[in-house]
Amino acid sequence: MTKQIHLAAHFPGVNNTTVWSDPAAGSHIEFESFRRFAQIAERGKFDFLFLAEGLRLREQKGQIYDLDVVGRPDTFTVLAALAAVTDRIGLTGTINSTFNEPYEVARQFASLDHLSAGRAAWNVVTSWDRFTGENFRRGGYLAQEDRYERARAFLQTTTELFDSWNGVEVVADQENGRFLDSAAPGRFRHQDRFFDIEGQFNVPTSPQGRPVVFQAGDSDEGRNFAAAQADAIFSRYSQFDEGKAFYTDVKGRLPGFGRAPEDLLILPAASFVLGDTDAEAQEIAHQVRRLQVSPQTAINFIEQLWNTDLSDFDVDGPLPAFDPVVEGDSIAKGRASVRQLAKDPVALANEWRARAEAEKLSARDLVIEVTGRQTFIGSPATVAETINRFVQEDVSDGFILVPHITPDGLAPFVDTVVPLLQERGVFRTDYEGTTLRDHLGLKYPA
Ligand SMILES: Cc1cc2nc3c(=O)[nH]c(=O)nc-3n(C[C@H](O)[C@H](O)[C@H](O)COP(=O)(O)O)c2cc1C
Repeated sequence: MTKQIHLAAHFPGVNNTTVWSDPAAGSHIEFESFRRFAQIAERGKFDFLFLAEGLRLREQKGQIYDLDVVGRPDTFTVLAALAAVTDRIGLTGTINSTFNEPYEVARQFASLDHLSAGRAAWNVVTSWDRFTGENFRRGGYLAQEDRYERARAFLQTTTELFDSWNGVEVVADQENGRFLDSAAPGRFRHQDRFFDIEGQFNVPTSPQGRPVVFQAGDSDEGRNFAAAQADAIFSRYSQFDEGKAFYTDVKGRLPGFGRAPEDLLILPAASFVLGDTDAEAQEIAHQVRRLQVSPQTAINFIEQLWNTDLSDFDVDGPLPAFDPVVEGDSIAKGRASVRQLAKDPVALANEWRARAEAEKLSARDLVIEVTGRQTFIGSPATVAETINRFVQEDVSDGFILVPHITPDGLAPFVDTVVPLLQERGVFRTDYEGTTLRDHLGLKYPA
């Protein structure tokens, strides 16, 4: 059976792939950018818009990391404002379960679901580190191994809160003067290792019953958390082989949790570069990569992996000959540093050196090759064909596209690739339903 493709739009993030120095780039803070971005995605009939979360300014060598965009406004505030200037597109916010409280988060998502008439989604993350936690009342109190336990308890508690109203309590009968049909809607009591709360939830049932739940996290625990409880996963596996392996792994976990493979969508982040021809797109992609990995960005990435100050390093020469420093605090704080992604820094450094030597790459060119290459590069026809092939061959159920230019970088994709997918009959020509659950083909809570 031919699968329908799901497409979403990730507002360009706080990392080196967002090219803020391009003359075409606008503000990453002003509402006008969010509005334009959301409306372009909605013009393309995308399933949803996606916001990541970062709660502390990143640092490297004790300084604010300002090679990339610095700062971002609050997720709920932005999504609530977007609800008013869009009609159908889903609104997905990344909100962590480590530094928040279930009652408050449940209120916020139920409210967003009301304001948007059923378009709210929550990407549950456990967040990166203690450094971020220092911003909060209890500091970085949560040990790594407790994060998913708290996440499970957190999601369970919010689910109880969402379900504490059954959708028919409010009658607002003006003739009889009765507002409620029930004596005690919203009643809850929850007790576990993390939460001991009881009371009455005060937001009546929202249009989707509960927000759609996403998960982003890659460990075995993270994958099980998603397989047990999430409606969709935001992954980083957009390449064919790794994407297929991830898809097979996670979908294979679902029966173990009493769920069917179609109960969970897998949606990797993906970037794209378009040109009139494949050759032109490759050329543009090459230029974009050089903007994304400036000489200073290359040094910073190498510093992160080697965990060493390399201020005077020559990035046009070879990678450092010595091994990364394994012990001690990371030189980078509060970011998805190269180091965080490397399970074994020495092994990864060896891999980088071997590749640089084999392909005769300078240190900077090597970093350009190994960090964040664009996923889809080509003419609109090539990109449409590739995306469709990936989805039909179960690399994913669709993609969360991240343009490198804010806010208009998505427009060429919407104007040239989307019509080709529509012609093939693999992407909607208009929204059929009104809620995000409708767009994603997800069941409503009983
Ligand atoms: C694709 C992806 C996107 C993520 N986005 C965010 C984010 O926006 N904000 C955040 O605090 N954490 C984010 N995370 C981090 C997760 O919250 C999690 O802390 C981290 O991946 C460690 O969990 P794991 O061991 O299960 O991978 C993301 C993780 C992945 C894999």
